[in-house]
Amino acid sequence: MPDNVSRDIAAPLLDWYDANARVLPWRAAPGTPPPDPYRVWLSEVMLQQTQVATVIPYFEKFTTRWPDFASLAAADDAELMSAWAGLGYYARARNLLAAARAVAGGHGGRLPADEGELRKLPGFGSYTAAAVAAIAFGQRAVVVDGNVERVVSRLFACRDPLPAARPRIRQLADSITPGARAGDFAQAMMDLGATICTPRSPKCLLCPLADRCDARAEGRPEAYPVKAPKKARPVRYGTFFWAEREGQVLLVRRPAKGLLGGMRALPTGAWSAAPPALAGAPFNADWTLRNDTVSHGFTHFELVAALAAATIDRHIAPADGEWWPIAELDSAGLPTLFAKAVAAIGRTG
Ligand code: ADE
Ligand code: SF4
Repeated sequence: MPDNVSRDIAAPLLDWYDANARVLPWRAAPGTPPPDPYRVWLSEVMLQQTQVATVIPYFEKFTTRWPDFASLAAADDAELMSAWAGLGYYARARNLLAAARAVAGGHGGRLPADEGELRKLPGFGSYTAAAVAAIAFGQRAVVVDGNVERVVSRLFACRDPLPAARPRIRQLADSITPGARAGDFAQAMMDLGATICTPRSPKCLLCPLADRCDARAEGRPEAYPVKAPKKARPVRYGTFFWAEREGQVLLVRRPAKGLLGGMRALPTGAWSAAPPALAGAPFNADWTLRNDTVSHGFTHFELVAALAAATIDRHIAPADGEWWPIAELDSAGLPTLFAKAVAAIGRTG
């Protein structure tokens, strides 16, 4: 079949969705009017790099604390960054605030319904703008996330490897996106990808699209999407400093720009190409470099951090730090990487 002719994917997929949609707190039931755009937007930002099961409790916490654009726009930056701790990709949280403030200040308190207008807001990439336009406003928009990429590449047995295949996959997704119920269609593709057309062992026998799927006809659906070999991520090194004094530990707020920007953290030196040992300590003390490390994968590098600890017996008030009760570290809002360090040091409170 020529690729520019859409197969009838939407009708059987929407029928399947009507009967099988996952019930999720940011969703409207299939075929019913769209939910509050604020909730759609917040959920889509959270879901971009994070699994549904992880997002649900954060979504509940955020919508209870900040139920609409006005309250989120008025949020305290530090409180919001702490509430986001553990979700990762912290630029999302900074953009969330910036977008809420733009919406509350400049758009009559509402999100625009148009995909192109949405694109102009902070943090709205092509995925978020399309997802919000479709799911919150019922506009026809082509929504492509990792699930959709996988399903589409299988339906059309797309042999080009990712990431080069992205424009082609987008075109194919466009060719099967219906004019009506685009939001339900997008979420149906996501649900199919999450529950049936899974990465390793797709359950083709249960799939509503099995009779029109090229990868299934070929017999090896799990071979798609084809991926270009990954470059190894470079490793960078750092040291985290655990300074303890009278049941408290020194925490700092990271600079707004850069890795984990705006988050509360243990003091660190600069990252470097070789282990920096005690370089970058927040002050002179009797630091002990422990022989364990914590590591964490970021988008562009893998960070391996050594841990240095010292007990401080004099009064020190570093300019940009605060002494935090060790028993209450759970409420400090530390990003996962630093929570790992606290656990390694064995001082979870
Ligand atoms: N992943 C991203 N957006 C989603 C949504 N609306 N429903 C389920 N999974 C998703
Ligand atoms: Fe995925 Fe199999 Fe359905 Fe094709 S038939 S879309 S490979 S689950």
